[in-house]
Amino acid sequence: MQSRIKEILALQGAGAEVVIDGWVRTRRDGKGFCFYEVNDGSCLSGIQAVIPGTLPDFETLLSRVTTGSSVRVKGVLTESLGKGQKYELQATEVTVYNVAPPDYPLQKKKHSFEYLREIAHLRPRTNTISAVARLRSSLSFAVHTFFQERGFYYVHTPIITTSDAEGAGEMFRVSTLNMEKLPKTEQGHIDFSKDFFGKPASLTVSGQLEGEAYAMAMGRIYTFGPTFRAENSNTSRHLAEFWMIEPEMAFCGLEQDMDLAEEFVRYLCAYVLEHNREDIEFFNSRVNPAVLSNLESVALQGFERISYTEAVERLSSSGHAFEYPVSWGADIQSEHERFLTEHIFKKPVIVYDYPKAIKAFYMRLNDDGRTVRAMDILVPGIGELIGGSEREERMDVLISRIKECGLDERNYWWYLDLRKFGGAPHAGFGLGFERLLLFVTGLQNIREVIPFPRFPGSAEF
Ligand code: 4AD
Ligand code: MG
Repeated sequence: MQSRIKEILALQGAGAEVVIDGWVRTRRDGKGFCFYEVNDGSCLSGIQAVIPGTLPDFETLLSRVTTGSSVRVKGVLTESLGKGQKYELQATEVTVYNVAPPDYPLQKKKHSFEYLREIAHLRPRTNTISAVARLRSSLSFAVHTFFQERGFYYVHTPIITTSDAEGAGEMFRVSTLNMEKLPKTEQGHIDFSKDFFGKPASLTVSGQLEGEAYAMAMGRIYTFGPTFRAENSNTSRHLAEFWMIEPEMAFCGLEQDMDLAEEFVRYLCAYVLEHNREDIEFFNSRVNPAVLSNLESVALQGFERISYTEAVERLSSSGHAFEYPVSWGADIQSEHERFLTEHIFKKPVIVYDYPKAIKAFYMRLNDDGRTVRAMDILVPGIGELIGGSEREERMDVLISRIKECGLDERNYWWYLDLRKFGGAPHAGFGLGFERLLLFVTGLQNIREVIPFPRFPGSAEF
């Protein structure tokens, strides 16, 4: 196979003969020659190819190649006199695969992120979106490396499920019933016994419950897959389809859970600083000047840990005028999360022991009867990055929590079995992969960090 620009720039020197395949970002014309700026997506940098007028078809074709065209350039690397690049490519042979017509939507100028979303099939050809894609790939690998090195097994939990893992009823229905003519029961309800799975099924909101089943057999597991939420949150932090990493550990409490989560986040930040320097520096210089310093400070400093009760006290006594009032029992809003990390502590904060009323049914009840062993990790610029907890392993308490939350215990029969047969303390957490990418890139909107974003009113492509 021909080389990629990334390898050429890293491994080759002046005088090497190379072949590159890629897309022309711009063409500039000189007297009797022209330049192509060619990018192949392997890295942020492209290569400038010098196309001499002596090549065949120069007048009719090569000098007319447009932005967005695809080409192969064979040539010799030479030291570049121009600034910003070490080498350029003196072309000896050019193949034009396609000349992009003038309506190519990515002409060389600055495009808004909103505009780029409308052409999500072409936007990976921009610097920003291709850098995001490289970081997603690299961080995915880092996630697996982190857990595999620590003896965790990767478990594939189902995408289609009949369990509401968060008990929040925010699931997308999966059905093959004819919506024009729904079968009805005698009582007039939809007859799901006629549906594909014989009962109501949905896309999963979290792999946690099935992950717990495997943790209670294999000790330490993690999942890494897509999750779906039909919450109507049209915000810059929410997607209807996002990727989540969820480790689960048997014989583990909240303290160790927080330790692992902190180690994980710090590992990922250190990883991109080491392995993705070019892209990170691009985000730091072009998107958000806090990117590098945020990553470095997270990689190096320990996180703050405070209870929910303390967090509420700190927020109330701050004197800051919040849009949503702070009071014990109310959920911490993202403005509060950001105030804690950005103003009070100036670093990531782990808040634990939340009121049970604002958290899911499966979290372990504390002895005070009103808080649960939950923890959220909040990071500057984002707010909540991780949500986790020690799980309720006591059968009777779990059943009463399920009822208290208005859920039907019959739907959780197998989850209760995990307590009945060999139950033990266990804990885990979920990290939202796109939230992590927001932090790493400094981008403002979560719709920029997933290839084809899904959100209310939008599932194009
Ligand atoms: O806090 P959440 O809802 O926790 C769970 O799903 C647990 N089952 C995790 C566990 O303990 N195994 O979600 C976990 C993380 C959040 O902290 C956030 O980063 C991300 O998932 N997240 C979203 N990311 C993008 N769009 C959404 N709609 C999200 N909802 C949650
Ligand atoms: Mg949460």
